[in-house]
Amino acid sequence: VIFESSDEASAKVAEEIAELIRKKQSKGKACVLGLATGSSPIRVYDELVRMHREEGLSFKNVITFNLDEYLPMDKENRQSYFHFMHEQLFDHIDILPENINIPDGMISSESTKEYCLAYEQKIREAGGIDFQLLGIGRTGHVGFNEPGSHYNSGTRVITLDHITRVDAAPAFLGIDNVPRKAITMGIATVRSARRIVLLAWGQNKAGIIKKTIEGEISPQVPATYLQEHENCTFVLDKAAGSEL
Ligand code: GLP
Repeated sequence: VIFESSDEASAKVAEEIAELIRKKQSKGKACVLGLATGSSPIRVYDELVRMHREEGLSFKNVITFNLDEYLPMDKENRQSYFHFMHEQLFDHIDILPENINIPDGMISSESTKEYCLAYEQKIREAGGIDFQLLGIGRTGHVGFNEPGSHYNSGTRVITLDHITRVDAAPAFLGIDNVPRKAITMGIATVRSARRIVLLAWGQNKAGIIKKTIEGEISPQVPATYLQEHENCTFVLDKAAGSEL
């Protein structure tokens, strides 16, 4: 779906999330959200915060699982996704702290495998992801599933692509400060969500959006795997959709 502006698009996506939360609430059920970082979802989070403040939208029945975190990365670090999520969303809503799940950027290399399996297990125990929000990197990554990621991959440690590190460099005040690794939900984890919405704004996403939507399904562009998901929508602004 191509919108006139990313603001309009973000408001629509936030409305869909709010409706899902309310629907689940009315049935006394938890609502499990898969959440993304980056600039793309910021206005969706702003809108959810506004709905909490002005319309009384409650997040007490919401359980969240974030896609990824840099490795190594301390929670206290301003560049951490932990910090980003709290600043953009969690600090401003009534979500219960025990319902927030963000991959831990400080896990030791010996405990990585167990940690990743436990993250997957926690998602299953919560009932699976009802709604997965995604952005897309210029490499075609979702979460940090870089080119080469397998269709059946689960949560794991990954080496970041050079392009991804270049794109992250300004936030880290130089590429040398960008971590080389990350922990990310896998392609299979993302695919298991019952609903997926991928956001992309601006001209610099137009090329990868064309490849993702019109290109052949390939591990070289991991986001192409989403073509096979039965309930996935790409939400674009005019510039991101300009090469379709
Ligand atoms: C990072 C995140 C991705 C995100 C991507 C795009 O690499 N790990 O989840 O989709 O950035 O970021 P932006 O939305 O700022 O373009």
